[in-house]
Amino acid sequence: MMFKHLEPYAGDPILGLNDAFQKDPRADKVNLSIGIYFDDEGRIPVLDCVKRAEAAMLAESGPKSYLPIEGAAAARQAVQGLLFGASHEAVTSGRVATLQTIGSSGGLRVGADFIKRWLPGSGVWVSDPTWDNHRAMFEGAGVAVHTYPYYDARTGGLRFAAMCEAIAALPPRSVVLLHACCHNPTGVDLSPAQWDALIPLLRERELLPYLDLAYQGYGDGIEEDAFAVRALAASGLSFFVANSFSKSMSVYGERAGALSVVCADAGEADLVLGQLKATVRRNYSSPGIHAAGIISRVLTDPALRGAWQADVAAMRERILSMRRQLHAVLSAKQPGRDFGYFLSQRGMFSYTGLSAAQVDRLKDEFGVYLVRSGRMCVAGLSTRNVERTAAAMAAVL
Ligand code: LMR
Repeated sequence: MMFKHLEPYAGDPILGLNDAFQKDPRADKVNLSIGIYFDDEGRIPVLDCVKRAEAAMLAESGPKSYLPIEGAAAARQAVQGLLFGASHEAVTSGRVATLQTIGSSGGLRVGADFIKRWLPGSGVWVSDPTWDNHRAMFEGAGVAVHTYPYYDARTGGLRFAAMCEAIAALPPRSVVLLHACCHNPTGVDLSPAQWDALIPLLRERELLPYLDLAYQGYGDGIEEDAFAVRALAASGLSFFVANSFSKSMSVYGERAGALSVVCADAGEADLVLGQLKATVRRNYSSPGIHAAGIISRVLTDPALRGAWQADVAAMRERILSMRRQLHAVLSAKQPGRDFGYFLSQRGMFSYTGLSAAQVDRLKDEFGVYLVRSGRMCVAGLSTRNVERTAAAMAAVL
């Protein structure tokens, strides 16, 4: 018996819940668990720009050789343009090393492996709370994980002063993981002014920011949500940014993502790219052609790009309207309570303040699925289920 000693896998708190939802036979169940955007009919949209990109790819039907370790040049270049702006000095001077990765998760992990190898004494500090998988990914890479204060349960907002105080006390070369927009799981973001206050602190303390940008376009807009990336690039700091197209292009299963490292100069970026390639080769060798084709075509064909921007705006607006409706119905049902956080929080998620026991009741009695931390994926609400969801919430609160 080779494997009898194995511990059973407890399952992933997010993906496991999504599996349980799929198996739930109740017709009126509501999936507010996983970070996926559903349209008002409850479907995962296939964006027309993506369909058109795929049709063009199929028509060309070129040979399916391996991509280079770092991914397709056209996709990497398109990612740089999207994140920084094509004419940004960091891009034109060649000091950004970008790899196409297997989703942004692949990028996060490659970056974590790189940090373990090349900055071996550095720990990573993540927000309290953060995406469930951040800790597991960095710990899996052998990097020690700590937290900095972030979410204020009292106000449903940000503990910015406490966050800065903790970051100011970190040892030099520590890695600070930051959500560039649409914080997962709370929906609480830094304002541009708060980024502008944080960045000098990161520089003074010689810290290494690591941005996770998984929801670009779902906060305030595609350009607006790149604020932190561009402000950091302008500051001269070196930093990592892992970005995803899963949500913004609604291509979850295509695993379309990238990792970029902004360096001091082009020479350093070459060294970094080389070692990132070595890390990828040891992990999964190279990324996929299909994701590369979608990324580069949608971002660089002007017609597809325009259609994509309109799609992202429509998805963002639909979520905002669901936030407003949920807020209105809940406020009417429980006038004594302040549900303003549904309006101030941004992106797919809101931290509802529901306890694990209340979340369990929502699932068991009403078929409404949230993550047990109280995280709600607002993008799973629709005009058909928002009233029912609000009533169920009001019943367990
Ligand atoms: C989420 O947080 O629900 C998404 O990012 C999906 C995932 O992989 O956890």
